[in-house]
Amino acid sequence: MPHFLDLADAGGDAIAAMLNDAQDRKAARMTWPKGRADADAPLQGHVLAMVFEKNSTRTRASFDIAMRQLGGSVLILDSGTSQLGRGESVADTARVLSRMCDAIMLRTDNHAKIEEMAHHASVPVINGLTDRSHPCQIIADLLTIIEQGMPLPGLELAWFGDGNNVLHSILEAAGLMKFNVRVATPTGFEPDPEFVAMARAGGSQVTLTQDAALAAAGADIIVTDTWVSMGQENVENKLGAMAPYQVNEALIAMAKPSARFLHCLPAHIGDEVTQQVFESPQSVVFDEAENRIHAQKSILLWVLGKL
Ligand code: CP
Ligand code: NVA
Repeated sequence: MPHFLDLADAGGDAIAAMLNDAQDRKAARMTWPKGRADADAPLQGHVLAMVFEKNSTRTRASFDIAMRQLGGSVLILDSGTSQLGRGESVADTARVLSRMCDAIMLRTDNHAKIEEMAHHASVPVINGLTDRSHPCQIIADLLTIIEQGMPLPGLELAWFGDGNNVLHSILEAAGLMKFNVRVATPTGFEPDPEFVAMARAGGSQVTLTQDAALAAAGADIIVTDTWVSMGQENVENKLGAMAPYQVNEALIAMAKPSARFLHCLPAHIGDEVTQQVFESPQSVVFDEAENRIHAQKSILLWVLGKL
C-alpha cells in the first residue's frame, strides 16, 4: 500500500503520470462548477480524513474540493478539537481512522509523526506538510511550470531565502524530474544536506550560494516562501539575514525575460517578495494555488491505486 510521505515514495515515473492525469482532468472540466464530480467519479464512496496540527487554507480547501471532484468526501479533524490535542497517540489515531476512512492526510510539525502515522495506518497516508517537507505543494508547482510551456528536464529553478520544507521537496523533485536548482540563502539557513544529496544523486545540478544575483542570472523559474515557517520562534536575527534575498524587480530582471515567479502562499508582501513582483504578469501564484486541487486529485488516485 503506497504512502505519499515524500516525493521519492512515488518516484519519477509516477510523478510524470500524476502530472499528465492532472492536466487531462483539469482540461476536461474547465467550465464546470467546481463542486461537480468528474465524469468517471473514480473515488465515489471514498472518504479522506484530514488531520491538521497546523493552520491551512489551500491544503484544506484543495483536498476537500479534490475529493468532491473525484466523487468522494472528507472529514476534518484538528488538534484543537480532537483527542490528539489531549494526548491520544498518533498510533491509535491512525488505527481508528483506518477503520473509518480510505486515506489519511496529516499536516503536522515533526516528520517522525507522519512516519508513525503511516506505520500504524492500514490505509494510505499523505503528507500535507511537515517541518521537513511539503511534497503535495511541489506536484502543483511542477504542474504550473509545465502549463507555462516549460519542460522540466534541464529547467533552471532559483530559490531565494529560507532553506525550508518547501525547498526540500523542490530538491527532491529536481533529482526525480531532472531539473537544476540554484539555492540562494544566508549562511546558516541552507537546506538539509540530505535533500541536496538526493537531487545530485538523481543528476540534478545544485548550486548553493549566498549571492542572490548569481542564482537569479538566466533562471527560468524564481521561487521564494515565507522567511518564518509555521512553528518557528526566536526569529529576530533571521529577518535581517533574509533581507538581501527578497524577490524584487531588480532580482527578477536578472532572470530570463520569460521567467515565472512561484510562491506556495501565504505571502508576506514587502518581506520575501515585493508587491510589484507578486502582482506582475510574471507571477503565476494563483494558477499555482488552483493547481493544488488538480495535483491533489492525482496524488489521491495514485495512493488509492487508481492511476
Ligand atoms: N501552500 C500551502 O500549503 O498553503 P496552506 O498553508 O494554506 O495550506
Ligand atoms: N514553509 C511554510 C509553508 C507554508 C505553506 C511553512 O511551513 O509554514
